[in-house]
Amino acid sequence: MNWVLPVVLVSVLIVISLVLILVEKLLGGGGEKVITINDETKIPVKGDDTVLNTLSSEKIFIPSACGGKATCGLCKFKLVGGDGHLKPTEEPFISEEEREEGVRLSCQVKVKSDMKILLPKGLLNAKEYKTVVSYVKDLTYDIKLVRFKLIEPKEIDFKPGQYVQIQVPGIEVIRAYSIASDPKQKNEIELIIRLVPNGQATTFVHKAMEVGDKIIITGPYGDFFLREDSNKDMICIAGGSGKAPIRSILYALQAKGMHRKVKYFFGARSKKDLYYTEEFRALEKEFPNFEYIPALSEPLPEDEWDGDVGLITDVVDRHTKDLSDVEGYLCGSPGMIKACINVLKKHDMKDDNILFDNFS
Ligand SMILES: Cc1cc2nc3c(=O)[nH]c(=O)nc-3n(C[C@H](O)[C@H](O)[C@H](O)COP(=O)(O)OP(=O)(O)OC[C@H]3O[C@@H](n4cnc5c(N)ncnc54)[C@H](O)[C@@H]3O)c2cc1C
Ligand code: FES
Repeated sequence: MNWVLPVVLVSVLIVISLVLILVEKLLGGGGEKVITINDETKIPVKGDDTVLNTLSSEKIFIPSACGGKATCGLCKFKLVGGDGHLKPTEEPFISEEEREEGVRLSCQVKVKSDMKILLPKGLLNAKEYKTVVSYVKDLTYDIKLVRFKLIEPKEIDFKPGQYVQIQVPGIEVIRAYSIASDPKQKNEIELIIRLVPNGQATTFVHKAMEVGDKIIITGPYGDFFLREDSNKDMICIAGGSGKAPIRSILYALQAKGMHRKVKYFFGARSKKDLYYTEEFRALEKEFPNFEYIPALSEPLPEDEWDGDVGLITDVVDRHTKDLSDVEGYLCGSPGMIKACINVLKKHDMKDDNILFDNFS
């Protein structure tokens, strides 16, 4: 009979599916699992989602500037007793040393069984904030200052230099932005956001965001922050929107009477890319310890520019002598940071004294 074969085939498929479901249930997958964090906190969770999403639904926020697409490499955690088998998507971000320590990307690892994980203590301070946009201002033709008033919780504690992540409403996009405001100002934060052509988050910020918009922010995050226990002289180098974290760092130094000698190099193409010049010139007048050195790489004739000209790396090189006991704070594109590190090292700055934030 020609109906026997199909019936047998369908029956075999049903049996295979049932066996697979049973194996999935026995070996892990959905169902309750326990994540132990730093040998202290045990959290019962529902399995099968990524570590990033699972912890986020428990209000533990790991940095994830690419929103889980394995392109930022920021969402690292340590898996205790992990087998070290990285997914191909993790490999570009995990060094050999990190692999041996069990470092993984939390957006790529699923919760299939009970897990023991290690997270930096500072990360456990990151929270989710409901905010409302309270002020928007054009700083240049492609850079905006946006102020967010915190609604719930009402205050944020952050170290000058750290960043937050904003969730773009409607399109589920998450992006990282350094806090540009005074760390003493706890009930609102300011971000400086440069428009990236066709960029998802920045197009929203520049073309659609308005005062009164409700935005979810998480943070603070990041190891790039002012080392407040150091008295070393400092060199800060930034380009474009990289001014944001340096501005926050300068607020913190100003509050302490600018007790450290600070040289701040800011690289821009032409005069129309400069902003907050008056603010930093005023700081120079107030504190002889502080020097602001804006430099233009392609000044226009109408700029009538009599300041420094050239790539920021060459300008830093020209202004710099021995850096063996100086701290460097760098902020900008990965290419700019790499080039600046080479210049600082040429002048004997030590690796441990170089802090940087890649706006990648
Ligand atoms: C720790 C950290 C702090 C940051 N702080 C700031 C900040 O204070 N201010 C700020 O403006 N940005 C900052 N950024 C960059 C920011 O997170 C976004 O990457 C950037 O705003 C682009 O987002 P988008 O969604 O508009 O672009 P996307 O939609 O992500 O990108 C669109 C296209 O543009 C390219 N692209 C992405 N970013 C850039 C870029 N910066 N320059 C040129 N091309 C790019 C992408 O490769 C892609 O092809 C920071 C990034 C990190 C990791
Ligand atoms: S969230 Fe960006 S790599 Fe995981």
